[in-house]
Amino acid sequence: MKGELVPDRLAVIGGTGLQVVAGFEPETSHTLETPFGAPSGAIEEGTVAGGRCLFLARHGVPHRIAPHRINYRANLWALRQLGADAVLAVNAVGAINPGMAPGQLVVPDQLVDYTWGREHTFYGGAKASAELAELEHVEFTEPYDAGLRQRLVDCAAALGLELSRSATYAATQGPRLETAAEIRRLGNDGCDVVGMTGMPEAALARELGLPYASLCIVVNAAPGLGDEPITLEAMGEVLEAGSAQVARLLQALLN
Ligand code: HPA
Repeated sequence: MKGELVPDRLAVIGGTGLQVVAGFEPETSHTLETPFGAPSGAIEEGTVAGGRCLFLARHGVPHRIAPHRINYRANLWALRQLGADAVLAVNAVGAINPGMAPGQLVVPDQLVDYTWGREHTFYGGAKASAELAELEHVEFTEPYDAGLRQRLVDCAAALGLELSRSATYAATQGPRLETAAEIRRLGNDGCDVVGMTGMPEAALARELGLPYASLCIVVNAAPGLGDEPITLEAMGEVLEAGSAQVARLLQALLN
C-alpha cells in the first residue's frame, strides 16, 4: 500500500513478556560480539508463517537484563551486522492517556526521553567505526520510520486489529516504576504511554540508518491512574493475550 515500507530482512526486538514470538520457528542462532560488546543474547533467525525475520530478546533469555543495563548499542550493531534492513521494537507500556486501556496496541509517532546515563550514541567514542568517526547530529524530528509505521497500521487494519497510531512514548529510566507525580508530569508533557526501553534504542537505529518503529502493548494503567496494583502477574496476563495479536501482526507484516 502507499507509503508502506516492506522490509526484506526485518529484525524484531522483543521486550518484557515477549521473549519469544508465538509461531516463530528458529532455524539459526547467531552469537556475536560487536565493537560495543555483546548483545543481550543470541540473535535467532527463522520464520513466522513462512516469513523470515531476525529475533532478539531485549532483556535476554531468561528475562534478566534491567532496562538501564541493556547494551542497546551492541544489539543494534549486531542486528545490522546480520543484514537487518529494518527494526520492529515490541514494548510493554503503561497507559497515561485515559483513552488507552490494558490490551491495547499502540504504534507511537513521537517520544520524550527521560532516561539518563545510558550509552546513547555511536558517535564520539574511541571504538566508533570509520563510518561513524565523524560526528553527525542525526535528524530525529520524527523518531519513528513513517513507512514501517504505515505498514503496521495497514496490516492491523487488514486483520481487523484495533491499533492506536498517534501517541507519544515516554522513555523512563527504571527499573522501578514511576511515582504518581512523575506520571502527572509526563501527562502534562504530552506523553500517552510510558516504558523503560524505547530510548536510546530508537536514536541508535537512526544513527545506523535503520528504519525503526515500535509496537507497544499497554499492560497497565500508569502508576497513580488505575485501581489495581501493578504487578508482574497482572502484566503477564495482559501480555499473554497481547502477544497473540503481535504474532498475527508479525505474520501479516512478513508475508
Ligand atoms: N511504567 C514504565 N514502564 C512500564 C510500565 C509503566 O507503568 N508498564 C510497562 N512498562
